[in-house]
Amino acid sequence: MITPWGEHELTRFPEDPRDPLRAWDAADEYLLRHLATIGDLDLSGTVVVTGDRWGALTTALAEHHPVQISDSFLAQEATRANLTRAGLAPDSVRLLSTRDEVPERVDVLLVRVPKSLGLLEDQLQRIAPSLHPGTVVVGAGMVKEIHTSTLDLFERILGPTKTSLAEKKARLIFTTVDPELTRPRNPWPLTYSLELGIGPASGLAVTNYAGVFCADRLDIGTRFLLQHLPERTGPDQVVDLGCGNGIVGTAAALANPQARVTFVDESHPAMASAEATFRMCAGPDREAEFRLGDGLADFPPGSADLVLNNPPFHTHQATTDRTSSRMFADARTALREGGELWVVGNRHLGYHEKLRRMFGHCDVMASDPKFVVLRAVKRAR
Ligand SMILES: C[S@@+](CC[C@H](N)C(=O)[O-])C[C@H]1O[C@@H](n2cnc3c(N)ncnc32)[C@H](O)[C@@H]1O
Repeated sequence: MITPWGEHELTRFPEDPRDPLRAWDAADEYLLRHLATIGDLDLSGTVVVTGDRWGALTTALAEHHPVQISDSFLAQEATRANLTRAGLAPDSVRLLSTRDEVPERVDVLLVRVPKSLGLLEDQLQRIAPSLHPGTVVVGAGMVKEIHTSTLDLFERILGPTKTSLAEKKARLIFTTVDPELTRPRNPWPLTYSLELGIGPASGLAVTNYAGVFCADRLDIGTRFLLQHLPERTGPDQVVDLGCGNGIVGTAAALANPQARVTFVDESHPAMASAEATFRMCAGPDREAEFRLGDGLADFPPGSADLVLNNPPFHTHQATTDRTSSRMFADARTALREGGELWVVGNRHLGYHEKLRRMFGHCDVMASDPKFVVLRAVKRAR
């Protein structure tokens, strides 16, 4: 990426030489170009960057010691790797998650517009008290990511807002902070109750922090999995892989009082949501583990009895099936012999083919016109 601050080689995380997707885009470049044209811009105060997908903005501006606020473990790892590649010490910037306290005073706020409107709303709400009338606020996104509702959030939470002309299908957002503005109440986290008739999760209250998958309603794929969870007893080690708000793992824990569930996700809001959902539904004393990380990459091999998975098929705006492939392969390693991986997915995603290749077989446990629940058992090779 060529910027007014220099040229950087950037990659996503985990690094995959076959990945044709770049770690930055025209919106990142536009934002950096624009900053360099603001004659009296003072970057010596606290510069906060949110929504920086793979650390491109944070790396480019590293000499100004920005504070990055991210909802994603993968984005934070990418940032660390990109800083190191650029010969910069990882501690030249501060990496905060959406669960951390926001810096008390913010002088420059750079917002890479996230895909989730709820995440943007919560981020702006949490940062707003740290802004002052002199804070420079610039947002950036691809044209297709910026809607009237996006601008409305800047306008209602921070102050008067306008946009730039589009360049290479990217657009900037300029907001003047209005300290007199009466901000609406921050609705996050959201809690909703599940309907009846969906197995052990029926009627449960689910907590959703901003940015978690399907934050305001139950996903139809998740519902299908909940309706067809395996019926098991005994001291199972269960993994809710890509747990989101944790409802699948919580249902498995309620269905089997002896099971010990590990919730795994790369998203900070997912971890917060899963902890809250599990505690609310299973009580304060039930044991569980909450692991933020890249799938099961660091999970003890051969230790899981059951892995439950509703895999992601989007990485930011791009459709990719790499994550599901890695999740299935890592699940196989994590399972003990005889252990089972249960996967729900849209029929057209072809997960059964992948599972058959990796596990040597795959059973269809439930199906409807849209979804399938698949089971793959780890057998000795
Ligand atoms: C389709 S959602 C399913 C969420 C939840 N299990 C449900 O059914 O509602 C997929 C989840 O995988 C998570 N995810 C994506 N990539 C991941 C990775 N590399 N490691 C761990 N979790 C990941 C996402 O953050 C998201 O919460």
